[in-house]
Amino acid sequence: MFNFRRKEKKPHLDKIPNHIGIIMDGNGRWAKKRMQPRVMGHKAGMDALQEVTIKALQLGVKILTVYAFSTENWSRPESEVSFIMNLPVEFFDKYVPELNANNVRVQVIGDTKRLPEATLGALNRACETTKHNSGLILNFALNYGGRAEITEAVKMIAQEVLEANISPDDITEEVIANHLMTNHLPYLYRDPDLIIRTSGELRLSNFLPWQSAYSEFYFTPVLWPDFKGDELVKAIESYNERQRRFGGI
Ligand code: FPP
Repeated sequence: MFNFRRKEKKPHLDKIPNHIGIIMDGNGRWAKKRMQPRVMGHKAGMDALQEVTIKALQLGVKILTVYAFSTENWSRPESEVSFIMNLPVEFFDKYVPELNANNVRVQVIGDTKRLPEATLGALNRACETTKHNSGLILNFALNYGGRAEITEAVKMIAQEVLEANISPDDITEEVIANHLMTNHLPYLYRDPDLIIRTSGELRLSNFLPWQSAYSEFYFTPVLWPDFKGDELVKAIESYNERQRRFGGI
């Protein structure tokens, strides 16, 4: 007798990306679909972030860099900006204990000086509380913009040349990478292997332009608050089907 039963499709997760970047998009549309105010989408987005972080940790991802607020997001209505700025306060009260218990380290990139005091305070507390953790790094991009990051790096390097600490010939890709905001991340994993963007938009929107030179991209129509652990698995399955050649053959 032939056995026509199809073999169950197992997820292909042989290669786990060390560093995943996520552009968490579609919160507003998620709320609109439910006839709720936009900010409810951000709140649901925050819960999704916790779930995805725990899943990433279980899968063995080392760094998750999440785009929580861009330098361009200040142009949103004041009430929405202040709601988003309050999310870290809520997030860190509600979720940091669980993250801490799971050995997750919270870090941040972006121009944090411009953040409201309460937001900055919550961020600093989370970074401080988790600084000895050696598990997954949850790296928040807050008031982050890639071009501004590169501009700042160029200014710092120009200053070093001016002070004759280095000559222009000494400026290598490594020197530039060492002046970017991601320079606090473990050297081997600074650049994301995989960048995920939700909600069907097909853009990078100033997210890690230098670091994404060789990243794989995964775009999904799923709105961020609906992006849960199983969606992360799908993204990693897709990553497993890619052949990364880094310019070689
Ligand atoms: C983009 O969706 C999302 C944001 C600008 C905010 C993302 C923030 C979170 C998911 C919460 C993060 C948590 C912390 C702790 C900071 P959108 O508003 O542009 O959605 P739309 O395109 O549907 O309007």
